[in-house]
Amino acid sequence: MSASLASLPLRPAAPAGRVEIRPLAGPLGAEVFGLDLSRPLADDDFARIHRAHLDHHVLVFRDLRITPGEQVAFSRRFGPLQIHVLRQFQLPGHPEILVVSNIKENGQPIGLGDAGHFWHSDLSYKALPSLGSMLHAQELPGEGGDTLFANQHLAWDRLPAELKKTVAGLKAEHHYLAKYAELQARNPWRPNLTPEQVAEVKPVVHPVVRTHPENGRKALFVSEHFTTRIVDVPEDESRALLDELFHLTTLPELVYRHVWEPHDMVFWDNRSVTHLAAGCPDHLRRRLNRTTIEGTAPF
Ligand code: SIN
Repeated sequence: MSASLASLPLRPAAPAGRVEIRPLAGPLGAEVFGLDLSRPLADDDFARIHRAHLDHHVLVFRDLRITPGEQVAFSRRFGPLQIHVLRQFQLPGHPEILVVSNIKENGQPIGLGDAGHFWHSDLSYKALPSLGSMLHAQELPGEGGDTLFANQHLAWDRLPAELKKTVAGLKAEHHYLAKYAELQARNPWRPNLTPEQVAEVKPVVHPVVRTHPENGRKALFVSEHFTTRIVDVPEDESRALLDELFHLTTLPELVYRHVWEPHDMVFWDNRSVTHLAAGCPDHLRRRLNRTTIEGTAPF
């Protein structure tokens, strides 16, 4: 870990042997202290973590020293895991883990260097988009590398009444390839996709406003990375509406900015939030392990 320990904020220690959840001030998020995945997780602790995830949408597990296998096993408690289409960036021996990293070894990227470059909800381009993702810090840059999360329940709640009426009932197309060529032009290491990979990520259609299957709240479900058009609406109207929604879903008052600390693991709800990687200077190393849990069809 390259982030300096001296710069870490001082916090009261969590009581030994018990998971402690502390909500963050702001539009979303809670910190979780004291999770020990080297022992079986008590049902009561699991239930409290699950509840907190539904209530706060982003959980920041502090000082979580776990192996990739423990991350996979913990993620599986929430549902089946999804394998990313860019299989070249799997952690060796752990196909369920996508390496998110800007590091190159022998001129080759060891992970997806520009994951999260545009606001998005993970795997919204699949028929069964992700329930949530867990991202565990392995190596952090001394500067930059933050991740931003925007609360999409609040985005819906604050939408002007007229706009709510306009978008309720609309559907939008999501496509993995929407920004692929643009990203590839900026980052030539991004691999060309095989015909099999392209077939795996055919465009899908989801409601613009979805109802969270577990907390029952409505959320906006569009993003600049993957949402290409509103279906059954003329192209110019669709573009104007999407641009307005992209703006209203990423307003500063909806956003929690996560500044990574060594051994953090962040578990976010892709049904409630969109996220964005702020990036860091190219010469600084950043490496995190991501698991992605499958959700249900949005409604
Ligand atoms: C992601 O979008 O999954 C990556 C986010 C990050 O690198 O901060």
